[in-house]
Amino acid sequence: MNDSSGILERERSFLLQTYNRYPVVLARGKGIFLYDLEGRRYLDFVAGLGVNALGHAHPRIVKIIREQAARAIHLSNLYYNEYQGQLAEKLCGLSGLPRAFFSNSGTEAIEGSIKLARLAGHRTGGESKSRLVALQGSYHGRTFGAMSLTGQEKYRKGFEPLLDDVKFVPQNNIEALRAAVDENTCAIVLEPIFGEGGVYECSVDFLQECRAAADRHRAALIFDEIQCGLGRTGNIFAFQTFGVMPDIVAIAKPIAAGLPLGAFLAREEFASAISPGQHGTTFGGGPLACRVALEYLAILEEEKLLENVVRVGNYLKEQLKLIVNRYAVAQEVRGRGLIQGLQLDVPARPLVEQALAEGVLFNSTQDSVLRFLPPFLLQEKHVDKGMRVLKKLLGKKRRKSSENPATSKTETAAPQ
Ligand SMILES: Cc1ncc(COP(=O)(O)O)c(C=O)c1O
Repeated sequence: MNDSSGILERERSFLLQTYNRYPVVLARGKGIFLYDLEGRRYLDFVAGLGVNALGHAHPRIVKIIREQAARAIHLSNLYYNEYQGQLAEKLCGLSGLPRAFFSNSGTEAIEGSIKLARLAGHRTGGESKSRLVALQGSYHGRTFGAMSLTGQEKYRKGFEPLLDDVKFVPQNNIEALRAAVDENTCAIVLEPIFGEGGVYECSVDFLQECRAAADRHRAALIFDEIQCGLGRTGNIFAFQTFGVMPDIVAIAKPIAAGLPLGAFLAREEFASAISPGQHGTTFGGGPLACRVALEYLAILEEEKLLENVVRVGNYLKEQLKLIVNRYAVAQEVRGRGLIQGLQLDVPARPLVEQALAEGVLFNSTQDSVLRFLPPFLLQEKHVDKGMRVLKKLLGKKRRKSSENPATSKTETAAPQ
């Protein structure tokens, strides 16, 4: 019963049915490729939903895990360990935000961020300074706090009541943002690039206005860079790409190369609002995850992977634009670096299923967006292979030569 069908059957019998999984058992990986139980190879444009930035079984990561596992996997936050402070120092240096807290997931990094913003808000403005402003169409995670900030009905429905002091504004709507933020706002929370929401970017103007509104009302500007951060835009932090500095940034996914680790980094003005005992975690900041994260950051630098993200990301964008020009169902390309989305006007999941049969892993979000979150090791030849498969699948839907792409396609805004 350990063949693929046995594994599928067992999961279907015993697991809470929260995922609509693809019918494949992935067993191992190497670099940019994954292999299923039967040994079939897949080119990976998903990277474990943005986690495996270094691909699979990177030799330096394997080595460091072996070494550290033989020393200490977990100690406790009751004590100091060799790597948590080092990792904090590194991330603080890279971000310019002077204090870090380590969690076990992205969602927990968001929870910690909003707890910090509430404490700081209460300190400056009393109990009433507790309102959170977030964006329609956003995604911040599955716990009650993170879900309360998530501006999409499908993630919230059935779980109410959520936090009630949350106001949502449409992405890139400066007027609505100005109207929503006041002296009772303790934080503005946003993803610089929506991930689950369908790869929509915040405009620089909008981000600057968020910065100004937060300053005006002494609220925290919190960037959720859990999906778009740590290299995916070509800079370590997406805020560096957009040129707007947050007060708190939440990160996770690729930081420990597949081990669960998240973090938030904060300016002193906010960080100083918390005292021992007000927040904590058993697992977060353990020596294994932190040492691996240090290795992740060293590999990014030494293998010049951010340059690769920019170069190959530009190439991917060009290729996707060619697809938009050529195929009727392909509407628009969004994103940058190695976080990009192709807007279709048909459901994307059937394409993902067909690509799987062709040996390529794509991902879909928001029903009709094909999302690309590949490892940072991606090369042009891998893009070519992925695009060949995509074109083959779109082939039957080819644009008629009489249609003019310039007149039939318009820019789309994030769904509100
Ligand atoms: C932007 C964003 N925020 C938060 C989360 C939640 O992170 P996690 O699943 O690690 O809890 C995700 C996960 O996809 C995300 O993309």
